[in-house]
Amino acid sequence: MYKIAVFVSGRGSNLKAIIDRLAQTEKNAEVVCVVSDKLDCPAFKIVESKQIPTYSVSQNENENFLSYTKLVSILENLEIDLIVLAGFLKKIPNILIDSFEKKIINIHPALLPAFGGKGMYGLNVHKAVFEKSVQITGATIHYVDKIYDNGKIIAQKSVDISRVESPEDIASLVLEIEHELLPEVIVKFSEKKIIEKNNRIYINK
Ligand code: GRF
Repeated sequence: MYKIAVFVSGRGSNLKAIIDRLAQTEKNAEVVCVVSDKLDCPAFKIVESKQIPTYSVSQNENENFLSYTKLVSILENLEIDLIVLAGFLKKIPNILIDSFEKKIINIHPALLPAFGGKGMYGLNVHKAVFEKSVQITGATIHYVDKIYDNGKIIAQKSVDISRVESPEDIASLVLEIEHELLPEVIVKFSEKKIIEKNNRIYINK
């Protein structure tokens, strides 16, 4: 069984898209836990009826939150194969990156390396894209390393935004793209079809 941990901070529409898509596969991959930087993350509601455990993690000592050290041992004991950041707003500490080398991916709501980096999340991204009068944007899935939005790019999908009238229009067009792209890439990971060759990432058919 290919085991996935999903990290969230918001409503969890990408988490729902992942769970729905994996339910259509031959059950060789599943979300086995959900992690948030919030105690009562709205996305937790998506899994409360599915017996999928949720964990709240913080870098600061707090009896209500797990430390990242504790979280790493939980994820290792669960034998997690892939960590998916789906709207997780906190920077991933080195202890987690070092423990899950090349096993952490993030979805960013723009075509990196453009419109990425610290502070570029959620509507901030779409406002910057709108203000530049960018005509094509999209979503990017990349490996997570120790610099924001910097890891090697795995997959991208573009969308025409030449007719949009607001950053919110862009956000909804890009979110649709995310809900298509992220689950498909996760399925490819579970099928061992994500290949690195000559410093580039290839997705086998
Ligand atoms: C998505 O737009 C994603 O690209 C960004 O955060 C948002 C998460 O939305 N990283 P949701 O919580 O999955 O609905």
